[in-house]
Amino acid sequence: MRIGAIQLDNPTVLAPLAGITNLPMRLLAKRAGCALVYTEMVSANGLVYGSAKTCQLLTSSPEERPLAVQLFGGDAELLAEATRRVTAAGADIVDLNFGCAVKKILKSGAGVALMADLAKAEQVLRAVRRATAVPLTIKMRTGWDASGCQALELGRMAQACGVDAVALHPRTARQGFTGRADWSVIERLKKALRIPVIGNGDITCAEDAARMLAQTGCDAVMVGRAAIGNPFIFSQIIDLIQGRAPSAPIPADRFQVMRAYAAATIAHVGESSARYLLRSRLGWFARGLPQASQFRAAIHQLATGDEALRRIDAYEASLVQTLQR
Ligand SMILES: Cc1cc2nc3c(=O)[nH]c(=O)nc-3n(C[C@H](O)[C@H](O)[C@H](O)COP(=O)(O)O)c2cc1C
Repeated sequence: MRIGAIQLDNPTVLAPLAGITNLPMRLLAKRAGCALVYTEMVSANGLVYGSAKTCQLLTSSPEERPLAVQLFGGDAELLAEATRRVTAAGADIVDLNFGCAVKKILKSGAGVALMADLAKAEQVLRAVRRATAVPLTIKMRTGWDASGCQALELGRMAQACGVDAVALHPRTARQGFTGRADWSVIERLKKALRIPVIGNGDITCAEDAARMLAQTGCDAVMVGRAAIGNPFIFSQIIDLIQGRAPSAPIPADRFQVMRAYAAATIAHVGESSARYLLRSRLGWFARGLPQASQFRAAIHQLATGDEALRRIDAYEASLVQTLQR
């Protein structure tokens, strides 16, 4: 599939996940074959007013390209200025967040609040489209509540404004993350648009992804929660849709990924901050492995990033011993 001039190698996409899809996480997805990775949502306001923390979210590396940078904001001109800046900083694709339903974001008129005000949404789309020549995507929900399906209207409007692809998480704002994603809305959107549609929501395994592609006709699948600590889901999806049996990772693969994540985190945020991040995050990669709770307890007090790497080695050695018994 193509997004504007960008040809993707396969139809798999890593979803933007605030606080999670930083550079180390995106690199794991990329190495597992994921064709397109998104940054977490980045505040247009924070970028334009030079917040160091916000600007750090743009740290990237050539290995992860093409990279989509997701912006959120409620003001068209501010979003346009942020778009100019991320384009200058090398974003391959700019994405606009029309789906976040967190209260603080809604209050600022951003995220899914824009789906409740389509006149403002159009201003945003036009201003941002004028601000960059790189492909532009949007990510949205079904709409505000079950009374209407603003996704179809916003999708058509986005297409008319020159947006190159849309991603849809088919839950309403009111639903948050409850209930089930209604994939039939993805199918309706795909039928209504000429530009590519990326389907998202409740993909937990390769079989789900293949089912979403077949049922909805969407052009690509976007995986969020199921990719946390589990980049293998991308190679499994690719295997399945290319006619191969998807293989489950063996423990050695999982430890390799854990080490790569720890090393990339240390390189990304520095030794001192890495220990805090790794205390909670390494546990993601141990989910389902024997002795995972002991490992989580052991890393809870990490004093250095290097200690994380030693703890991973010790966990693997102990697991190998247990499995050989
Ligand atoms: C912890 C977390 C953070 C998220 N952050 C973002 C975000 O920054 N931008 C965005 O568009 N969606 C965000 N989402 C929504 C996801 O991108 C995705 O639409 C949703 O999780 C459904 O997909 P899934 O079932 O594959 O997880 C977030 C979801 C979670 C659980």
